[in-house]
Amino acid sequence: MDQANRLRDIVKSREHQTVHEPVTSRVIAVTSGKGGVGKTNLTLNLAIGLRKLDKRVVIIDADLGLSNIEVLSGVIPRFNFGDVVNSKMKLESALTDGPLGLKFLSGGAGLTALANLSEKQISVVINNFGALDEISDIILIDTGAGISKNVLSFVKASNETILVVTPEPTSIADAYAIIKSLKRASLQTPVLKIVVNMVNNYSEGLDIFEKLNRVSEQFLGISLENAGVIPFDYCVPRAVKRQEPLTLCFPRAESTKSIENICLKLLNMEPKYRHNACGIAIFMNRLVNNLRA
Ligand SMILES: Nc1ncnc2c1ncn2[C@@H]1O[C@H](COP(=O)(O)OP(=O)(O)OP(=O)(O)O)[C@@H](O)[C@H]1O
Ligand SMILES: [Mg+2]
Repeated sequence: MDQANRLRDIVKSREHQTVHEPVTSRVIAVTSGKGGVGKTNLTLNLAIGLRKLDKRVVIIDADLGLSNIEVLSGVIPRFNFGDVVNSKMKLESALTDGPLGLKFLSGGAGLTALANLSEKQISVVINNFGALDEISDIILIDTGAGISKNVLSFVKASNETILVVTPEPTSIADAYAIIKSLKRASLQTPVLKIVVNMVNNYSEGLDIFEKLNRVSEQFLGISLENAGVIPFDYCVPRAVKRQEPLTLCFPRAESTKSIENICLKLLNMEPKYRHNACGIAIFMNRLVNNLRA
């Protein structure tokens, strides 16, 4: 049996793992229909909140446009995804250390290169990425915005996706468009968790969630989960200007408390998803297939 077939078998057997078998990482994509809604800030600060709760977290920056996670955290990465995909280096060495023991893997050109690798190279890459399961409980993926093939490939490959919306009608319409494309593009859509960001008050956020959920259930047959609401808060742009994560420089801000609540909610949802935590090997396998399709 060649290596590619062996890997496929590993991936297949993991797809059928039960709750009692060893747990692999939860892979959660963070995405949005419209750009600039707060995905990168949310990803970074969720990661820090989860670290505070003792979870081992790795962020993959999959935004092919601008890799902003580093800018927001003030950390300069030495290597990127491309270095791993081209198999020049072990994944552990390509990770950059961030605040509180958080680890980052920067995007870069390697993402698009994935689509053009040979079977043998893909086995090496998937094997290499498997190391992430050993060192992380949760892998958060910051994607770009919109309905591009790249973004949808990441979302479809993950078992769970956080879809960020704001109260702007354009953001809500674009979020609905993403859900619609997912429904059209895949037999099984990932579990979609909605975060409503930049709200004036909690009830505005809840109202937006309920409206989006209602149309999604009615017209697409997809139920959404309410992952939480974050108020509009000037502490967020102030933290961005300082290049320090919000939850570290403004620990008592309303936005920080809301993000920490979202972390708790994500962990409370954990038992339900334990058997769903596909791990990075299955994720990467699906991602490559999606990018090639
Ligand atoms: N809750 C909030 N209150 C106030 N401003 C916010 C909030 N969340 C995000 N912002 C601001 O919105 C801007 C965009 O945030 P961010 O870069 O995280 O969005 P994004 O969705 O990742 O954008 P892109 O689509 O370009 O990747 C930033 O200037 C940030 O300060
Ligand atoms: Mg971003």
